[in-house]
Amino acid sequence: MIQSEYILALESSCDDTSVAIATLDYKILYELTSSQTEHEKYGGILPELASRLHMQNIMYLIEEVISKSNIKPSELKAVAVSINPGLIGSLIVGLSFAKSFAWSLGIPLITVNHMLGHVFANYIEHPELEPPYLALVISGGHTELLYFTSDIEFEHIGKTLDDAAGETFDKTAKLMGLGYPGGPVIDKLAKDGNPDFVMFPRALKMKDNYNFSYSGLKTSILQYLANQPMDWVAEHRSDLAASIQMAIIEPLVNKTIRYAQRNGIKQILLGGGVAANSLLRAMMQEKAQAFGAKVYYPSIPLCMDNASMIAAAAIPKYMKKQFSSLSVNAFSDKGTRVL
Ligand code: KG4
Ligand code: ZN
Repeated sequence: MIQSEYILALESSCDDTSVAIATLDYKILYELTSSQTEHEKYGGILPELASRLHMQNIMYLIEEVISKSNIKPSELKAVAVSINPGLIGSLIVGLSFAKSFAWSLGIPLITVNHMLGHVFANYIEHPELEPPYLALVISGGHTELLYFTSDIEFEHIGKTLDDAAGETFDKTAKLMGLGYPGGPVIDKLAKDGNPDFVMFPRALKMKDNYNFSYSGLKTSILQYLANQPMDWVAEHRSDLAASIQMAIIEPLVNKTIRYAQRNGIKQILLGGGVAANSLLRAMMQEKAQAFGAKVYYPSIPLCMDNASMIAAAAIPKYMKKQFSSLSVNAFSDKGTRVL
C-alpha cells in the first residue's frame, strides 16, 4: 500500500534546517523548518556558523518530525537528502545524518539535487502533474530553464550567464537599505509603484537564445542609485522597486513563454524562492493563458528551502530504485542535475 510507505527527507544546503516525512503519493505528514536568523547581524550568511547551527538543530527536528508524524522509525522506507548545490559544510551535516540514519535502519539513501527539489515542490500541491513540462528554477543563486521529458530526465534550455535573479533582488535591496532577503520586500513595495518610472536595461533581449544575464542590470541599478541623493531614493522607493522588479522579471517571463510557444509546450512549472514573486506569477499566467498553457507554482512556503520538496524529488528515484551508496559525497557545484 503506497500510503504506508514513508520517506524521511533532510534539507540543510544553506541557512534553513528542514526535516519532513512524506508518503509516496506526495502527501507531507509533517515538516519542520528552522531558519537561521543568527546571520542577519552580519548582513549575509556565514558558512561556518550555518554548519554549526545545522548540527545543533537537525537531531531535534528529526525527533520532533518523527514523533508528530505518529510513525515509528522502523516504518521509514528511505532517507532522502540534498547533497548539491549549497554550502559544503552545511550539506555535509545533512548528508552525515542521512547516511547514519539509513545505515542504522538498514534502508536506502536517496541523494537529491536541491534545484530539482524546487521543481518537485510543485508535485506536493499537484500530485497529478506529468511531464512533459518546462521548468523555470529561480532561486538566490540559480536561474535555469529546463525541459523535462520524464520525471528523471531533462534538457538544459537556458541559464544565467552571470548573476542569478534572486541575487539581483537581494543586492539591489541592500543598496536601497531594504535588508535581506530583498525579493519579498521589493515585491511588496512594487505593488504601489510605477514599473515605467526608470527603464533599466533588459539583457540579451534581442538574442535568440534562452539564456539570462543580470550583472549588467545590477551595475546599471548601482550606478543609477549612486547618482541619486539617499532621501530621494527613500521617497521614490516604491517606484524604484517596481522598475527594478520589472527589469528582473520581464526577461524570465518572455524567454520562458517564447520557448513554450515555439515548442508547443502546455505546462510551465516555476520553482525556487523567486517563484514567490507576485509579478512573475501573474505575468507568466497571463501570457501562458493566451496560447492555452497552464502555469504551476508552489504556495509561498514551498517556494522557499524546505525538506518536503526534497522528499518529493526523491519519490521518482525511490520508485526506480535509484539509491546512493553510503560513500557518496556532497558537492557545491552550481546547477541542476540528476545525482
Ligand atoms: O530558493 P531559495 O529560498 O534559496 C536558495 O536556494 O537560494 O531562494 C531565495 C531567494 C532570495 O534571493 C530571495 O530574495 C528570493 O528568493 N525571493 C523572492 C521573493 N521571495 C523570496 N524574490 C522575488 N520576489 C519574492 N516575493
Ligand atoms: Zn533553494
